[in-house]
Amino acid sequence: MRYIDLPEHGGPEVMQLAEREKPQPASGEVLIKVVAAGINRPDIVQRMGFYPPPPGASPIMGLEVAGEIVAVGDGVERWKEGDTVCALANGGGYAEYVAVPASQCLPVPKGLSLVEAAALPETFFTVWSNVFDRAGLKAGEILLVHGGSSGIGTTAIQLAHNFGARVFATAGSAEKCAACEALGAEKAINYKNDDYVEVVREATGGHGADVILDMVGGDYIDRNIQLAAKDGRIVNIAYLQGASVQVNMLPVMLKRLTLTGSTLRPQSAQVKAAIAGALESKVWPLIDEGKIRPQIAATFPLENVADAHRLMESSGHIGKIVLTL
Ligand SMILES: NC(=O)c1ccc[n+]([C@@H]2O[C@H](COP(=O)([O-])OP(=O)(O)OC[C@H]3O[C@@H](n4cnc5c(N)ncnc54)[C@H](OP(=O)(O)O)[C@@H]3O)[C@@H](O)[C@H]2O)c1
Repeated sequence: MRYIDLPEHGGPEVMQLAEREKPQPASGEVLIKVVAAGINRPDIVQRMGFYPPPPGASPIMGLEVAGEIVAVGDGVERWKEGDTVCALANGGGYAEYVAVPASQCLPVPKGLSLVEAAALPETFFTVWSNVFDRAGLKAGEILLVHGGSSGIGTTAIQLAHNFGARVFATAGSAEKCAACEALGAEKAINYKNDDYVEVVREATGGHGADVILDMVGGDYIDRNIQLAAKDGRIVNIAYLQGASVQVNMLPVMLKRLTLTGSTLRPQSAQVKAAIAGALESKVWPLIDEGKIRPQIAATFPLENVADAHRLMESSGHIGKIVLTL
């Protein structure tokens, strides 16, 4: 099969189109013939050598795919050959075939192309488990999403808006802010021009944010603590601007804040299966109804994966970038 090899770590140019044997599905797995594979920022970090695959995972990049099941391993009852699915992979998505745990497959929502379906798993699993499970966002609460125009951000805005939260977002241009507001953010703040702490405080009558989803870190860590409402929850899923900072922790105690975070990839199959179950029962119906839709910024054929990575690293995109096979 064709796949993208990573013979060394470095810039986009190190990725090479190559050939190897297709994988076989182990017990509990299905083999998917990939039609589309989503790109996520963790792939960039893996390519650079700072995010090694967890033990047992494929060394091939790629965390999400959509396509047709062409073989099933022992013990798989739900899926059969010929089913089309989207799936959270533990790795191996940048390839013509990938073996994934059957419990990490979900049906393709009604009306979505396989390109759109491939753009769902990584961000929907991540946002669900961090914003709803971990941070416990409830209807009527206020969510601030940093990086609102990212794959993660466009997912978080739509999910939170549909579940009845008031959503604020930050993004780095007027166009990105407009996109966040079109997806359901009450207000998006261009962080290059305005201080998000002041804007959200003023817009919420001094209440602040009940939940903050942050991937930026750096000086946002202290500012998030300042902005959080009483009993607020701050959940970090990355630290693009750094993780080592000096902060005033006093408000954590005085406002009873929860600081938390997680990474999806190293979590167990059981945890991922539970997230898949919650998504299928609570979120997939909203996609079926057309209330939530993945935002596709661009598609690239597999062999042009370097250009896809360059686009993501330029941050010129809004939403998701997807490879087609
Ligand atoms: N913990 C987990 O399980 C998990 C899972 C998936 C993704 N993630 C993380 O979530 C983040 C978003 O992922 P994604 O795939 O949605 O990425 P993405 O679409 O590339 O979005 C990243 C966004 O962050 C902003 N950004 C980029 N570099 C930045 C920097 N140095 N400082 C501040 N902002 C920066 C950019 O928006 P602006 O132009 O508006 O600044 C960019 O659009 C990534 O950091 C990724 O590693 C974590």
